[in-house]
Amino acid sequence: MAVRLAIACDHGGFHLKQALVQALAGQGIDIVDLGVGSPDPVDYPDVARTLTEAILRKEADFGLLLCGTGIGVSIAANRRPGIRAALCTDPYTARMSREHNDANVLCLGGRVVGPGLAEEIVRAFLAAGFAGGRHARRIQKLDPP
Ligand code: RB5
Repeated sequence: MAVRLAIACDHGGFHLKQALVQALAGQGIDIVDLGVGSPDPVDYPDVARTLTEAILRKEADFGLLLCGTGIGVSIAANRRPGIRAALCTDPYTARMSREHNDANVLCLGGRVVGPGLAEEIVRAFLAAGFAGGRHARRIQKLDPP
């Protein structure tokens, strides 16, 4: 079954989002494009909220958030219980964010990584799986009941 990847950006991530939507669509990835649809300025907390709500409603398996640095959207996304957002700049940290942190949102900086590297980071994130075990105990401590 295809993995459902929701994607959203502010103006700083717009051009990278467009490139990734084109590069990733198909090949076992269903893209849920939540915008924005133009490079006009918007506020990153708003796009982070749109995407994290979609993840929490299980409308997608994973989320991909982009802003200029990836920092703003990662801070905003991680304020939502149940969201584990990882700001990554290389495939290794993307893979580890899934294996050890069970990250459900990947954050990228549209002014930091180019489209080729970004695609490799996304593919590494999606190809990895949560290792469980001791890491599951640690994940549970992030969102105590
Ligand atoms: C917008 O200029 C920029 O501040 C935003 O995209 C992001 O990088 C914030 O963290």
